[in-house]
Amino acid sequence: MQILAERENASAKDFLPLQGTDHVEFYVGNAKQAAHYYRSAFGFRLTAYSGPETGRRDRAAYLLEQGQIRFVVSTAIHPEDPISRHVQRHGDGVKAIALTVDDAEEAWRATTKRGAKSVQEPTRISDNDGEVKLASIATYGETVHTFVERRQYRGVFLPGYVPVNKRDRVSRPAGLLHIDHMVGNVALGDMNRYVEFYRNVMGFDLYQTFDDKDISTEYSALMSKVMSNGNGRIKFPINEPAEGKRKSQIEEYLEFYDGPGVQHIAMATDDIIGTVTRLHDQGVDFLRVPATYYTELAGRVGTIDEPVETLAQLGILVDRDDEGYMLQIFTKPVEDRPTLFYEIIQRKGSRSFGKGNFKALFEAIEREQALRGNL
Ligand code: FE2
Repeated sequence: MQILAERENASAKDFLPLQGTDHVEFYVGNAKQAAHYYRSAFGFRLTAYSGPETGRRDRAAYLLEQGQIRFVVSTAIHPEDPISRHVQRHGDGVKAIALTVDDAEEAWRATTKRGAKSVQEPTRISDNDGEVKLASIATYGETVHTFVERRQYRGVFLPGYVPVNKRDRVSRPAGLLHIDHMVGNVALGDMNRYVEFYRNVMGFDLYQTFDDKDISTEYSALMSKVMSNGNGRIKFPINEPAEGKRKSQIEEYLEFYDGPGVQHIAMATDDIIGTVTRLHDQGVDFLRVPATYYTELAGRVGTIDEPVETLAQLGILVDRDDEGYMLQIFTKPVEDRPTLFYEIIQRKGSRSFGKGNFKALFEAIEREQALRGNL
């Protein structure tokens, strides 16, 4: 791994100023039930809704919020809708990583001029609370980036959504604060193409890189490069499978998602023990590493604030680099297909991605792959 120069691409950074992640939209088979899962298990609050009852005839969509994180789960009411086709092909998954911008038209113009494929030309939508401008471009697979300009909007989320003001009886917040990074899986040989896309089309820089010597087990390997935007708020690692003895976790994902897509979303907390305790109690299933991981932990990471016994009980992993340390844990996939999962992360100085945990982690993933008959 290398931590690269902070601003290698400084001269190009200004053509696409991004304020941060606006929201993540999932296309799902049953948004009502998916929303319930994100509320009851992950502790999101239902804050807005758009659907037949509010005048949207073709779709139902639920806005879920926790800390600064906004998820939208959307479903189709009719079988011919593009959402239905997306769900049939991919299962539930991430459709749009939406980014907040000052000027959606300019963001669309700047990126399409540099080679981005347009998915939606700049469009104004409005209601009594004002106007929002949206535009979308394609990234890997059928995933898109939507530019959201909301300066002229006072409503709860987007035009067409009505606030859900009643107390959420189901949600028990778990202390999730913001999105730390979102990882894409792409096909063998495509990683550098998407690295170039994020560099040339979106003005991102290469932030860290991992090769198959960093990330390999007896069975499988992967390569990963992390791209970061100018203000550092948005980090997109891109994974591709590397040559291994058997099917890698990335290949398993690509097979069951039927193409490239979002592999995991990392959500930050400032109290990982409290957060993971709550999520575990609420039914979130986490990957487990062998007990020997914790007997070796102190020797590997030195002194940390958290009791190792508690980390071992919960299955939380730790890694250290020269800037500090970080704690992380991964859920099992949240669909029946082995596709999207979540990471919970707490950073204590470290800006890295847990390289020291890769081996234990990927062996844990491979045990799950073997149970599914996919190794
Ligand atoms: Fe991650």
